Amino acid sequence: MTLDTQTGRDIAHAAALLQSAEVVAMPTETVYGLAGNALDADAVLKIFKAKNRPFFDPLIVHTHAISEIGRYVKGIPGQLRPLMELFMPGPLTVLLPRTGLIPDLVTSGLDRVAFRIPAHPLALSLLRSIDFPLAAPSANPFGYISPTTAAHVQAQLGGVIPYILDGGPCQVGIESTIIGMEGDTVVVYRLGGLAIEQIERHTGSLKVMSHSSSDPAGPGMLESHYAPRTPLIVGDIAALMLEHSGSKIAVLSFSKKYDVPRNYILSPQGDIDMAAKRLFAGMRELDATDADLIIAESLPMGGLGRAVNDRLQRAAAK
Ligand code: TXA
Ligand code: MG
Repeated sequence: MTLDTQTGRDIAHAAALLQSAEVVAMPTETVYGLAGNALDADAVLKIFKAKNRPFFDPLIVHTHAISEIGRYVKGIPGQLRPLMELFMPGPLTVLLPRTGLIPDLVTSGLDRVAFRIPAHPLALSLLRSIDFPLAAPSANPFGYISPTTAAHVQAQLGGVIPYILDGGPCQVGIESTIIGMEGDTVVVYRLGGLAIEQIERHTGSLKVMSHSSSDPAGPGMLESHYAPRTPLIVGDIAALMLEHSGSKIAVLSFSKKYDVPRNYILSPQGDIDMAAKRLFAGMRELDATDADLIIAESLPMGGLGRAVNDRLQRAAAK
């Protein structure tokens, strides 16, 4: 069945759909999410179906306050609470021991649940207007690039979901940073929109768990993720252009302009936050050209550069 997907800013309408166990696309500061009632396994099932997502890949649950998170977890470790107080709302997700209120489907049966408070006014209004938290993975078909505009969501989930709450382009542009505890240590499970340096200022040097394709149910995440359909290679652009001169090339560059017909410049000013914000839109735009190959370069490693490079590596891992 094909739905007539509406786009708008009607929070009451979105809330009414969610209350009747429907799924709705919701803006956040990182990427758009595909939201459903996290306490209702039927609604959660609809999320997995709409995304074609495997059940071993758990979902992040969204609320509007730390006190709300407290209702669904057994406790908040002492090292994590100050980080939550500092960075929530914001691009930070924490893994916490769950209570039985959270369905198995949400966590893929794992004993921790991922919680996040999005720093987006429409998302926060929506969350305050309902009395349940929202499970919301990125609003893209499984394995494809995350959406950072309502139009990106419409292009891929139009006809599949009833409503897209349009909050404009996402201000951060890459998914949240995921942290949790291993024993007494704070561990980073996914690099993301909150730079590691910002967290390390409060925790000291952090352990970053690398991702793996063989153990996706471990919080490491799937390696081949965020991938355009067109093959993507990361390296030195000039060298790769020479090497692939026989192919139709598209270039995803950080700040330099290249003399090719298809070039998306992430930030002409060389601003890393701007580059993160435009990364997924750039991948989509180049993926929509007739190029056979996308050539991309890494960013400097500081700040969000590290998370952007992680996304480029994953896009290339396909
Ligand atoms: O910025 C974001 O985090 C966005 C917006 C919509 O909030 N959401 C997002 O969700 O990126 P998603 O589904 O694309 O990524 C969720 C990832 C999973 O793939 C998994 O790696 C991790 O979060 N995760 C979720 N729950 C977990 C759990 N219980 N244990 C370990 N990892 C978990
Ligand atoms: Mg995702």
